[in-house]
Amino acid sequence: MKRFEKHIFICENKRPPDNPKGCCFDKGGSAIREEFKKRIAELGLKSTIRASSSGCLDACEFGASVVVYPEQIWYGGVKVEDVEEIIQSHLIKNEPVKRLMITHPNFNKDAKL
Ligand code: FES
Repeated sequence: MKRFEKHIFICENKRPPDNPKGCCFDKGGSAIREEFKKRIAELGLKSTIRASSSGCLDACEFGASVVVYPEQIWYGGVKVEDVEEIIQSHLIKNEPVKRLMITHPNFNKDAKL
């Protein structure tokens, strides 16, 4: 039996302001993680869906970055206001939010839709 049906990792990595790579912390990573956790709890999904803070996911240029397993769906440019759509569409209905999926060829090539 699987521990969780879905596991979401939200990058909260923080870099110094002068670092050219930027970081997801500055793009709202912590607020996004908090919103996922809050809504998952409110919706009674805590036993099947887990949202976890992550360090750098090596998708910095697309941040704020989020990846959902087991589908291996990578989302980029995620904002707090996108969390509800990801929960309702992807996590509940198994319909990934295409408009937020990273389109770079190194991402989502192994996605299980
Ligand atoms: S800092 Fe978020 S993916 Fe690298």
